[in-house]
Amino acid sequence: MRKIFIAGNWKMFFTADKARAYATELKEALADINDVDLAVCTNPIALEGVAKILAGSNIGVGSQNCSENNEGAFTGEVTTEMVKAVGATYALVGHSERRTIFGETDAIVNAKTKKILAEGLLPILCIGETLEEREGGITEKVIKTQLTAALDGISAEDMEKITVAYEPVWAIGTGKVATPEMAQETHAQARQILANLYSDELAQKVRIQYGGSVKPENAKELMNQPDIDGALVGGAALKADSFKGIATYNS
Ligand code: 13P
Repeated sequence: MRKIFIAGNWKMFFTADKARAYATELKEALADINDVDLAVCTNPIALEGVAKILAGSNIGVGSQNCSENNEGAFTGEVTTEMVKAVGATYALVGHSERRTIFGETDAIVNAKTKKILAEGLLPILCIGETLEEREGGITEKVIKTQLTAALDGISAEDMEKITVAYEPVWAIGTGKVATPEMAQETHAQARQILANLYSDELAQKVRIQYGGSVKPENAKELMNQPDIDGALVGGAALKADSFKGIATYNS
């Protein structure tokens, strides 16, 4: 069965010094956890130091973004090669903040996902609808469009390396968590979309994380849903006690 995968997205928080101190704290606090997979996604400046501290531990490290291009005149961007070279294993792609604030289209998300895979990194592919789209009753259509576009040209073999993160935009950083039933319904739809794009067998293997105001208090009920296979955590991942509370939801 699918192993639960809890990842923290530190967003634009923590200097390199603070990130190293926090990684050291987390390494200690989470050392005994082996029934769930763990990862933290840092800013590019903190990545190397955090990866060094967490090397060989039970916590993987990811980048929050990387370019779809190999190298060249792309001011401010980092390549997949750069993040891999300093110890990243995972890379977030398609986060709603990248889509809405930085204008990343489905085509860019597709190109980035392919580049991440080509580099040998593991993508965490984020999808999710806005409040307007949910209220308009088009959530399933939106995630179908996002998944179909993001996965265009990606083989079944590569699909097995991808984690999908369903993050309803209206639940991110707002304290408005989707009810477990609401999240489960959309996760099941996403899995069916993957089954249609690939196969039932493959869709059953893919982990689909939920993201959006996940906290220790709601983690258990969310993780107990049959199609929710983990969490992508923002705010509550910035403190060791709350991240640990989510990672140990089952104890
Ligand atoms: P919050 O957990 O702060 O709602 O953020 C979710 C998120 O965007 C993780 O990528």
